[in-house]
Amino acid sequence: MILIVGGAGYIGSHVNKVLNERGYETIILDNLSYGHEESVKWGTLCKCDLANINEVDDIFTKYDINAVMHFSSFIDVGESVRNPEKYYNNNVVNTMNLLNVMLKHDVKKFIFSSTCATYGIPQKIPLTENHPQNPINPYGWTKLMVERILKDYDTAYGLKSVILRYFNASGADESGIIGEWHNPETHLIPLILDAAMGKREDIKIFGTDYDTPDGTCIRDYIHVTDLADAHILSLEYLNKNNQSNQFNLGNGQGFSVREVIESVKRVTGRNFNVTQTQRREGDPAILIGSSKKAKDTLGWDPQYVNIDKIIETAWNWHQKLNKE
Ligand SMILES: NC(=O)c1ccc[n+]([C@@H]2O[C@H](COP(=O)([O-])OP(=O)(O)OC[C@H]3O[C@@H](n4cnc5c(N)ncnc54)[C@H](O)[C@@H]3O)[C@@H](O)[C@H]2O)c1
Repeated sequence: MILIVGGAGYIGSHVNKVLNERGYETIILDNLSYGHEESVKWGTLCKCDLANINEVDDIFTKYDINAVMHFSSFIDVGESVRNPEKYYNNNVVNTMNLLNVMLKHDVKKFIFSSTCATYGIPQKIPLTENHPQNPINPYGWTKLMVERILKDYDTAYGLKSVILRYFNASGADESGIIGEWHNPETHLIPLILDAAMGKREDIKIFGTDYDTPDGTCIRDYIHVTDLADAHILSLEYLNKNNQSNQFNLGNGQGFSVREVIESVKRVTGRNFNVTQTQRREGDPAILIGSSKKAKDTLGWDPQYVNIDKIIETAWNWHQKLNKE
């Protein structure tokens, strides 16, 4: 059985679906603080907080768990700057609880949701896995700390991990039955879709004077179903090689904020107000990842390379979520 920690959230719920489609049995551990019970449509949900070591321990006693996929963390970069204690406690301390319970039960396969935010300001684009890691906010630091812990836990205890550094997760499952459902929402695509639905007055572009072709920031949007596939391949990699590794998961192409807005207008056929405003602190002009290593080593083959295709799936889900 595979334990999906944070499996009621956006990315975890998509991985849960694909795991079940491929014949794996899943247990979902989530405290539903940010996730949704409705998103757990497969497997067994255990409502539990990672801070509660005894309850986590009980889950490992009750179920025959072979590997753990760990999605649960707080994810709001701005909030991590204002309230780092919340982030270090949940993202680092609670992850250590999980790892220690795993060791107690001799479970030694771990797949970890890390982030391109561990790289900080890029020195070279596209970012490869050996780019220096210098996070510029507490959120990024929490992820880098766990990466470091995993390295040491492998050396000392033989716990094998695959660290997956996602770029901007986006889109929704083709079925439209699960999708991105954050509250509060801070991600660009759902915010633009809200503007397209008239749920927001406008969409704000933070900075139009970056050194990019249209002056707006460029980001790498990777479809959540492609991310889910990479998790299955990572699990197979661990089962086959019993070796730790780290991979970027990105689309390999960047899209500017303006390009994403134009794509939403094309796909939805709707117009909405766009407001230009000041740059935000700590936003690099361009973040694009190289996923060559994941393609070469895992055989990962992302399918959603076209931004309109990504937005179509997001829009399909977004309309259902908002009952339009
Ligand atoms: N969304 C992105 O673009 C993105 C990019 C890079 C990395 N990541 C990482 O991927 C992971 C998943 O992101 P997401 O967008 O699905 O987030 P999400 O908030 O939708 O999902 C996280 C889930 O973890 C649960 N959770 C949080 N703390 C918990 C605790 N103490 N005990 C039990 N459950 C707890 C929440 O209830 C939620 O269901 C995160 O670790 C995030 O840092 C996400």
